[in-house]
Amino acid sequence: VGVFGAAVGGSLAWWWTSADISTVGKVRFADELAVPPLARSTVDRDGTRVFDLRMRAGTTEFRKGVATPTWGFDGSHLGPTLRAKRGERVAVRVRNALDEASSVHWHGMHLPAAMDGGPHQTVAAGSAWTPRWTVDQPAATLWYHPHPHGATERHVRRGLAGMFLLDDEDSERLKLPKTYGVDDLPVMVQDVTFDGAEFDHGHRFLANSGFLGERTMVNGTLDPYAEVRDERVRLRLLNASTARIYTFGFADDRPFALVGTDGGLLPEPASMDRVQLSLGERAEIVVTVRPGERTVLRSYPWRQGNGWERRFDGGDDSFDVLQLRAAERLRPSPAVPARLAADPGLGLPEAGDAVRARHFELRRSGINGRPMAMDRIDRTVTRGTTEVWTLRNAGDMTHNFHVHDAEFRVLDVDGKRPERALRGRKDTVAVPTGSTVRIALRFDGPPDPDIPYMYHCHLLSHEDLGMMGQFVVVEKGRRAGAVPDHAGH
Ligand code: C2O
Ligand code: CU
Repeated sequence: VGVFGAAVGGSLAWWWTSADISTVGKVRFADELAVPPLARSTVDRDGTRVFDLRMRAGTTEFRKGVATPTWGFDGSHLGPTLRAKRGERVAVRVRNALDEASSVHWHGMHLPAAMDGGPHQTVAAGSAWTPRWTVDQPAATLWYHPHPHGATERHVRRGLAGMFLLDDEDSERLKLPKTYGVDDLPVMVQDVTFDGAEFDHGHRFLANSGFLGERTMVNGTLDPYAEVRDERVRLRLLNASTARIYTFGFADDRPFALVGTDGGLLPEPASMDRVQLSLGERAEIVVTVRPGERTVLRSYPWRQGNGWERRFDGGDDSFDVLQLRAAERLRPSPAVPARLAADPGLGLPEAGDAVRARHFELRRSGINGRPMAMDRIDRTVTRGTTEVWTLRNAGDMTHNFHVHDAEFRVLDVDGKRPERALRGRKDTVAVPTGSTVRIALRFDGPPDPDIPYMYHCHLLSHEDLGMMGQFVVVEKGRRAGAVPDHAGH
């Protein structure tokens, strides 16, 4: 095992094995981008839309003739795209055909804690779990992934992740590209390293952050290109990696319109040429292409610096992510509407609404000095109230912060107005080294004193190590209950 000196990012050290690095290379754009199928659903007599998801092990051919052991929902790797509309009742029959317990969390979904799919809603090997809820939030690009305590990184990296798209009346009316798989593409970006046929689960990693792969894949396609037949295409970018932060932009620096963030559409589009996504964050962008051209979506090193500006091959932390191949004749697309979300306030609270302030000190060893404990409720919040949370990273590595159930407003970053990509509905935000981020959240319940939601760093190895806390939402004047014992569930 060779040790690559601690030359970058101060105290961070790089390790790699003696495995050959000839696999490090440019993306060849040889394979058509896989688009996860839309999940089929049935509608019950009471109007509930019912989905089925089966977690299972299998093998996937990322490279011709090489079978890689993977996990997936329904298929062998990743999962279908679930789609539902605001106001609909949904149920998902989750079956676990793996040989170990897991769970399925609906990241960004506003729903009762018992349906959340966090570490308390474990689905034992061979068993099933059917959460039900009513979709009660704006159109958005959400996703789902396992959340078993201490094992989330491993489960996600093996392939358990998928998108969950929500629509509403506004989004259906708006003239944005919206034909799934045609001019509206899911773009789930993950980084990966192969060790022979298998995924390398950590021989080469940046010790402090968790696993950093030597290349990216999109929707499980290693060398992806997408044929574009329309003048404008909407990309639903999701950072589904476990540790790496991306700064997306096009190789020719063309501007694109940012139309949505984690929790839904912006009030108006924002023209930009780079958008940074930390773990679990989403951005919806609309890009315009010219007939016959090829353009490449790349990821650039993060300008704030995050300790991993350099890759294992010594190059900077840049990746070719996805090539768009425009047809010679493009169907015209309407211009991006000047107004998007109907509510300019996005349904988010303001700092002035807050009845309570809380502080969170982020360190890899835990939040506010305590590692996660399954049987400890860390915070009790009152249903219907707004709080301001101050997230402080005084440590020496980047973290981010994700809150279950509530989309939030980013109030400021180091006292300054947040950049445009942070002004929408958010459920996850980067908290770089040395910085302070303030967010305003409102907890709309439903109340449940006994079943907690999570807040945590979404660098999954940090989460697994205990950078997570639990909160319950209660009616005014009520206390938190006791977390039920889920041992052996
Ligand atoms: Cu995307 Cu608590 O997770
Ligand atoms: Cu972290």
